[in-house]
Amino acid sequence: MAPESIRWNEDHVVILDQTRLPREERYLEIRDPEAMFEAIQKLRVRGAPAIGVAAAYGLYLGVRDHTGPVDQLLARVEEVAQFLARSRPTAVNLFWALDRMQARARELAAQHPTAPERVLAGLLAEARQIQEEDREVCHQIGLHGLKLLQPGMRVLTHCNTGALATAGIGTALAPIFLAHERGWPVEVYADETRPLLQGARLTAWELQRAGIPVTLLCDGAAASLMAQGKVDLVLVGADRVAANGDVANKIGTSALAVAAQAFGVPFYVASPLATIDLSLPSGQEIPIEERDPREVTEPFGVPVAPEGVPVYNPAFDVTPHRFITGIITEKGIVHPPYGPALRALFS
Ligand code: MRU
Repeated sequence: MAPESIRWNEDHVVILDQTRLPREERYLEIRDPEAMFEAIQKLRVRGAPAIGVAAAYGLYLGVRDHTGPVDQLLARVEEVAQFLARSRPTAVNLFWALDRMQARARELAAQHPTAPERVLAGLLAEARQIQEEDREVCHQIGLHGLKLLQPGMRVLTHCNTGALATAGIGTALAPIFLAHERGWPVEVYADETRPLLQGARLTAWELQRAGIPVTLLCDGAAASLMAQGKVDLVLVGADRVAANGDVANKIGTSALAVAAQAFGVPFYVASPLATIDLSLPSGQEIPIEERDPREVTEPFGVPVAPEGVPVYNPAFDVTPHRFITGIITEKGIVHPPYGPALRALFS
């Protein structure tokens, strides 16, 4: 069974604390938006789609005790949404989910102007719906991505894009899980993904649990593997795709894309429509999260650098669209020119 990153349990959210993996499978009960904010910011729940689901539930947790009039409830919805929006800046799924919850709150308020309890019930249903839809989106991405695979292929991936990062079987890992289900031999190379090691701690763990052959490598070893002709396909996820097809994803992705092009390896990005942000013309406008320097100088609490050394620690980078062979979405695979192809997905 695939691990469940997040679930609603009667009156609270349960998340699998990903900072503890793979040593320990510890589940946390989240009962208020402050705890959800902390879980998102600390990467206890992470990966663009899972962050969207978490934000939707977090918003509901912040308003569910409201008993006053509906207009006050709407004001509280805005307040909690603004609070949660400050947890992480890059994955657009966070803002997408909060916008969707706010729009639904306004719709419900217009339908039930004197019944706040109906608005609240509708908001919980919406959060559950967002989670349910993501499950199906992952499956569709898997089916489309499967067209790129053949039995025996060797796929290189970066960061973690599996069940842990979503509400379903993942995005970039979804085709691999489906291929394995069909009995195709597939081999995965997983970049360790410095500095927080999502590849080593999470991807290697998920694939091993599923019985899929996985080899772990340092991020710096990926180009040499491609140079030796040992990679047939690179598959990565996305945190935000701009209107021109530029892709923000985990730091190190753009270096992989450049190397893939240099060595003639196809480079595909798996991205739900909820991760595509047509409001931004290019990747230059995508806000890139910079994280605590100690993630680099003291990884997992072990000091490795001289004290006081300046650190550059962006959590994401932007891969220019010219390095991307195609983008796999739940509606199919799109190819350059990305501007019209991405717009067509929404029409
Ligand atoms: O910082 P993280 O672990 O949240 O970063 C995750 C990634 O970069 C993933 O590749 C992306 O969110 C896609 S997950 C399906």
